Amino acid sequence: MSRIFFITGTDTEIGKTTCTAALTHWATAQGLRAAGLKPVAAGQEFVDSRWVNEDVLCLHAAQNAGLTEAEVGPLQLRTPCAPHLAARLEGRPIRRAEVMAGIQAVLPRLDMAFVEGVGGWRVPLDEAAGWDSSDLARELAAPVILVVGLRLGCINHALLTAEAIAARGLRLAGWLGNTVDGQMLQHAENLATLAALLPAPCLGRVPRIESPDAASVVQHLDTAALQHALLAP
Ligand SMILES: Nc1ncnc2c1ncn2[C@@H]1O[C@H](COP(=O)(O)OP(=O)(O)OP(=O)(O)O)[C@@H](O)[C@H]1O
Ligand SMILES: [Mg+2]
Repeated sequence: MSRIFFITGTDTEIGKTTCTAALTHWATAQGLRAAGLKPVAAGQEFVDSRWVNEDVLCLHAAQNAGLTEAEVGPLQLRTPCAPHLAARLEGRPIRRAEVMAGIQAVLPRLDMAFVEGVGGWRVPLDEAAGWDSSDLARELAAPVILVVGLRLGCINHALLTAEAIAARGLRLAGWLGNTVDGQMLQHAENLATLAALLPAPCLGRVPRIESPDAASVVQHLDTAALQHALLAP
């Protein structure tokens, strides 16, 4: 039985993939078969004669379970916009059953899976079914890890997201502060306020890092908090 965590964020481009790769790195160092998954990805680039998605490449590189890129990212849309709109544009609908099947297919090979959402907490996915990224987390019954992109406004976004997670009947397993704005005023005080107000433990405080690869970011995770939040029975 694999443990599944759903990774959401206070916004798009705030470090979900960066933190998911670091969490995966940590889990593999615990001797677990672990991977980050990106069930729906929007935005591909043509690199070395093929279309690739950056998140999928990053998560694929961090896993140790021998998954293929297509298993890490089974549904990759080409257009870098809201996924349901990319799906419309490309005539390639996102179907709830297909998304779930893609995840279920790899779980037997994993001890721990980190499923990265798209953008923030409530991003439409299957338009026909009225199914969004929070429904995906709910269907997986996965505890949620919230990546807070540290910049002005993040406290409000983090608290609203935590409230919405609880309203969906899901548990916030922990949160990570990832520094988006290196010049943020009152950086430490913002972190302290988040720690005081969010109803879950802080799993890491990540500064601005020149090349934020998993091995560098993992140094800023709180290993004791991770052990407790992710491995406790
Ligand atoms: N702590 C950091 N220091 C420096 N750069 C960072 C840091 N965290 C993230 N980045 C960079 O910021 C960009 C966005 O990060 P990332 O892709 O992890 O965000 P995301 O929330 O997963 O975005 P998306 O919503 O597109 O999935 C990337 O280029 C990443 O390398
Ligand atoms: Mg990402």
